[in-house]
Amino acid sequence: METTATSLKWAILLLANRPDIQDKAYKEIEDVLCSASFSYQDLKKLPYTNAVIHEIQRSKYPFLFGVPRQTAKDVTIRGFLIPKGTICALFFLIQSTGNLLKSSIQNIFLDQDGHFVAREEYLAFGGGARICLGEHLARMEFFIFLVNLMRAFHFQLPPGVKELNEEPVAAVTTPPHPYKVCAVPRCSSS
Ligand code: HEM
Repeated sequence: METTATSLKWAILLLANRPDIQDKAYKEIEDVLCSASFSYQDLKKLPYTNAVIHEIQRSKYPFLFGVPRQTAKDVTIRGFLIPKGTICALFFLIQSTGNLLKSSIQNIFLDQDGHFVAREEYLAFGGGARICLGEHLARMEFFIFLVNLMRAFHFQLPPGVKELNEEPVAAVTTPPHPYKVCAVPRCSSS
């Protein structure tokens, strides 16, 4: 729950700071989803929204150091010996900047025709035998909660606030600092 809640807090903050991205994703959602109810399968029809979701979790990863592991035996990777007992944390390659980037949405997660691109390097949930057991639940929850929230509200900065703080609180998980945002109800028929 902590990881998904942290990702949702970041999503609302980042979308409030970037109304152009929020509006584009909202338009895609309303154009594609015909009724109020939708399912996780609908994510396939929403490439831009899917790219935004991935970029939110890439740029504001909910863990400080992933989930630490310990090598059970000596391991050699590209000539480097990692002795038995070394504490390791997984860092995934494309998590190289803490800023949500419009260019990453366009260039990393979408192809030239606007189709979503699943990247091998995107290891937000780890990989191999110890991959996150909650990955599918977390992906579904994040998509369904976020899209429902975006359909119900337009997230705006409070009057007089130019930008919400995007520095994370450095703990085991990395939530944003507490913030206030205006959730303006949308006048949608759905
Ligand atoms: C945004 C949400 C989440 C993220 C980013 C995330 C990420 C991760 C990562 C990186 C690992 C370590 C994988 C590895 O070492 O290769 C992990 C492990 C794990 N996660 Fe998640 N997780 C999330 C949500 C959840 C949820 C919702 C659950 C359960 C309902 C869950 C249950 C677990 C468990 C049980 C493990 C340990 C698996 C093992 O050691 O075999 N996670 N998670």
